[in-house]
Amino acid sequence: MKVYIYDDIETASQAALNYYQEALADGPKVFGLATGSTPEKLYQEIVASDLDFTDSLSFNLDEYVGLEASHPQSYNYFMHKHLFNEKPFKHNYLLNGANPNEEEECSQFENLLQEHPIDLQLLGIGRNGHIGFNEPGSSFTSKTRKIELTESTIEANSRLFDSPSDVPTAAYSMGIGSILNSKNILLLAFGEEKAAAVKAMVEGPVTEEVPASALQKHPNVVVILDQAAASQLS
Ligand code: F6R
Repeated sequence: MKVYIYDDIETASQAALNYYQEALADGPKVFGLATGSTPEKLYQEIVASDLDFTDSLSFNLDEYVGLEASHPQSYNYFMHKHLFNEKPFKHNYLLNGANPNEEEECSQFENLLQEHPIDLQLLGIGRNGHIGFNEPGSSFTSKTRKIELTESTIEANSRLFDSPSDVPTAAYSMGIGSILNSKNILLLAFGEEKAAAVKAMVEGPVTEEVPASALQKHPNVVVILDQAAASQLS
């Protein structure tokens, strides 16, 4: 795991952009993408760049169960607003949160991932160390599945909804095993509220209690932090 620390989100996101330039330098790729506040600046940088994704594929990590793609809080909506409307891809694979058939939705997605292995997976990290929506206790071999969200995740995500009771209580998410199949992984973390999770991910024991600690087992992980998120590293 290589850890790089930048002064602020701006310079960190510019550094992250370089990995997309490098990835596309020798042809189209399969990109794993994340939502949330963390990658917003990176997506702005990508949109402002001349990078061409028209022959590349994307897979999103996760989606709330029960939200239609057109719902303003759905991750599908987020991705179109922040990236896809401006940077077209050959195809964007997103989990359909409105499909009540969990087994069908998740196994279909996992099969597509096997067919198109991810070259570069982008991740954020939750305050409880989750990656994707793999909450503490998730198996390191887990595949795409339905996950019940923890109280702390529902509370953290309620800032984007009118009230905490509007936050969906479950999500479809790539598993930790699905994420570890990616050839390269780029994790971004910004802000002091991520500092404890970052320390546990980088320096703590590899344990299912800290899902992101699974990344210590992967050979090609780059972690990009701002000063605040790095503040507890020794
Ligand atoms: C989002 C995702 C989550 C977020 C994490 C951090 O697709 O998979 O793991 O990366 O919850 O969220 P933010 O960036 O909003 O702090």
